Amino acid sequence: MIRRDLDDIPAYVPSKSDPDALKLSSNEAPEGPLPSAVAAMEAAARGANRYPDMASTALRQALASHLGVEMENVTVGCGSSALCQQLVQATSRAENNVIFPWRSFEAYPIFCQVVGAKPRPVPLLADGKHDLESMLSLIDASTSLIFLCSPNNPSGQVITRSEFTAFMDRVPDHVTVALDEAYVEYNRDPAAVEGRTVFRDYPNLVCLRTFSKAYGLAGARVGYAFGAANLIQALDKMGIPFQVSAVAQAGAIASLEHSEELLARVEDTVGARDVVADGIGALHSQANFVWLPDVDSADLARQLATRGILVRAFPEGLRVTVTNREDAEEFLSAWEAISQP
Ligand SMILES: Cc1ncc(COP(=O)(O)O)c(C=O)c1O
Repeated sequence: MIRRDLDDIPAYVPSKSDPDALKLSSNEAPEGPLPSAVAAMEAAARGANRYPDMASTALRQALASHLGVEMENVTVGCGSSALCQQLVQATSRAENNVIFPWRSFEAYPIFCQVVGAKPRPVPLLADGKHDLESMLSLIDASTSLIFLCSPNNPSGQVITRSEFTAFMDRVPDHVTVALDEAYVEYNRDPAAVEGRTVFRDYPNLVCLRTFSKAYGLAGARVGYAFGAANLIQALDKMGIPFQVSAVAQAGAIASLEHSEELLARVEDTVGARDVVADGIGALHSQANFVWLPDVDSADLARQLATRGILVRAFPEGLRVTVTNREDAEEFLSAWEAISQP
C-alpha cells in the first residue's frame, strides 16, 4: 500500500526543546515578534472561522514593494520549506536528479526523495563554501534542479556575486536553480550575491526567503519566493490551498512594515557572532550561527546540554546559533568549562 522507497527517506530531525535551556540549536530569533505584529496576529486570529485570502494578496503586494518586483514575480508559502518542496515537485520526477551542497539545509535531500528524484549531494569545500565546480560537473541531461544556499546553513559562508554569475553562465537552460537566502538579512559581506539584484538576468532562477529567522516568525510559518513569473506560477500550482494562514499573513505584513525595527535586532547577532566564532575557533560566519566542522559534535552537544545549553550536532560538525551578546557570553563560559582538561 505504501511506496517502498519511502523507507529510504531520512526523517527531518528537529532540534530538541527544553523551556529551561538556552536554545541555540534552531537558528531562531531570541525575541518574540514585535508588539505590532502580535497585535495584527491577534486581530487575524479573531477571524479564524474564515479561510484566509488564498492568494495572500496584501502580503504579496507588500513583498513586491519591499523587493522592488511585480506581483507576478512573488509568491508565499508555509515557510520557505514548503516552497522548497513545491519547487522540487514542480521541476522534478523520478527520472531526474537534484544537485545540492552538503552539508546544507537538511530538507533538500528529503524533498528530492519525496518525488523519487535522485539526490546528488556535493560536499562543501574545506572552507565551508560551495564546491561550485563539482556541482557543475554533476549536471547531466536528467538534472532538473540545483539548490544553492547563501549564506549556507550550517557553514555560514556565502557565494559571491562573481562566483554566482560565473556558475549561472554555465548552467544549461533545462536546469532550474534555487538560491536559498534564508539568512540573507544577516549577511554583511558586500561581495555576496543577493537574489534581488540578479534574478532578472536568469529565467531559470528562483530565490527563496523566510520570515522565520531575522523576522522572528518561525512559529507562524511563512516564507516567500521570487523569480520569473512562469516559475512562480508553477510553484503556486504545487501549493496546498490556503497554506498560509491569515494569522501568518497578518504577522508578516506587520513585520515588513516595521522591518527597520526588526532588523535592528539582527545587529545584536552580527555584533556577537565573531566573538563566538573566535571563542571556539570557528570560521567567521555571515549568518546567525557559527560552524565547527570535524569535531565530536554529539559529545560536545551532550556536555553543553548538561549545562543547560542546546546546540546542534551534525555528523559533520557542530552548529551554534548566535542571538545576542548575553547568550554568547553564557555559551562561551559553558564552552570554557567543558574545554577544561
Ligand atoms: C537554509 C534554510 N532554508 C530554508 C529553511 C526553512 O525555513 P522555514 O521553513 O522556517 O521558512 C531553513 C530553516 O532552517 C534553512 O536553514
